[in-house]
Amino acid sequence: AKKIILDCDPGHDDAIALMMAVASPAIELLAVTASAGNQTPQKTLNNVLRILTLLGRTDIPVASGNQKPLMQDLQIAANVHGETGLDGTELPEPGFAAQSIPAVELIAQTLRASTTPVTLVVTGPMTNAALFLAVHPELKAKIEQIVFMGGAMGLGNWTPQVEFNMFVDPEAAKMVIDSGIPLVMAGLDVTHKAQILPTDVTAFRAIGNPVAKAIADLLNFYHIYYSQAKWGFKGTPVHDPCTLAWLIAPSLFETVKRNLDIETTGQLTRGETIVDYYELTGKPVNAEIMLDLDREKFVALITQCLHTFD
Ligand code: BDR
Ligand code: CA
Repeated sequence: AKKIILDCDPGHDDAIALMMAVASPAIELLAVTASAGNQTPQKTLNNVLRILTLLGRTDIPVASGNQKPLMQDLQIAANVHGETGLDGTELPEPGFAAQSIPAVELIAQTLRASTTPVTLVVTGPMTNAALFLAVHPELKAKIEQIVFMGGAMGLGNWTPQVEFNMFVDPEAAKMVIDSGIPLVMAGLDVTHKAQILPTDVTAFRAIGNPVAKAIADLLNFYHIYYSQAKWGFKGTPVHDPCTLAWLIAPSLFETVKRNLDIETTGQLTRGETIVDYYELTGKPVNAEIMLDLDREKFVALITQCLHTFD
């Protein structure tokens, strides 16, 4: 199984990614760290603990991440994810506590303890990953790759050109992108195609176990934001699970390998990811970029994961 550390800011779609990380036999989830993003760091940490409690995995070490982005105030997405960050369902109270060390140290400890390289999966702003690389450069070689949800080759979802996770902490993203660690990007180009339709939600609920019911509730809430006509979606795009789906079943995705960079100073484009699609810069390939996926198989994979909680 692929060893991973998941750094996330649950968040409805983060919760589904976490569920897949626990469910799939292809993944060994070593640790989970919470980032400040969709909601305040206190709330996203609490949400990690509550989801892992629901999933019956109170044995997984969890740590709290940095309280705010590197250079600017935290922007949250309460308009998308609600007051708790996971509105729409009743989750159990946490059945365990976070570690007393910060995210950066839990990542370091986990890497040191692993005899083989570990994949870092980031589904929120990149603050924790960037700080980890700054504080523990000696452990860089232990990271096999960084698979992240963020950015877009095309349009943004938070400003016209900028995706939310990149918008929240562009400097952190720049540090991660420039790290030299192989990157795999699930940007909006692919995640907007990873839509869960209302009929899929009905089928998830019919699976009947408590995890499947909670995920169906969460998807109904998440759909409120994405049902706005301006998006033009038939269903609800679930961004973050694309990272786990790629790790579990890469053949579901169409990708290109290109140079990736990020704008950090543009007045209108701060946080915009730049994919050198036509290879105009001569800069080396540093990223594999997901562009398309087999939606039906993606939904089937989530379904299969949900059944493991029967
Ligand atoms: C990203 O922003 C968050 O709201 C989601 O959890 C996802 O990680 C999509 O832009
Ligand atoms: Ca997220």
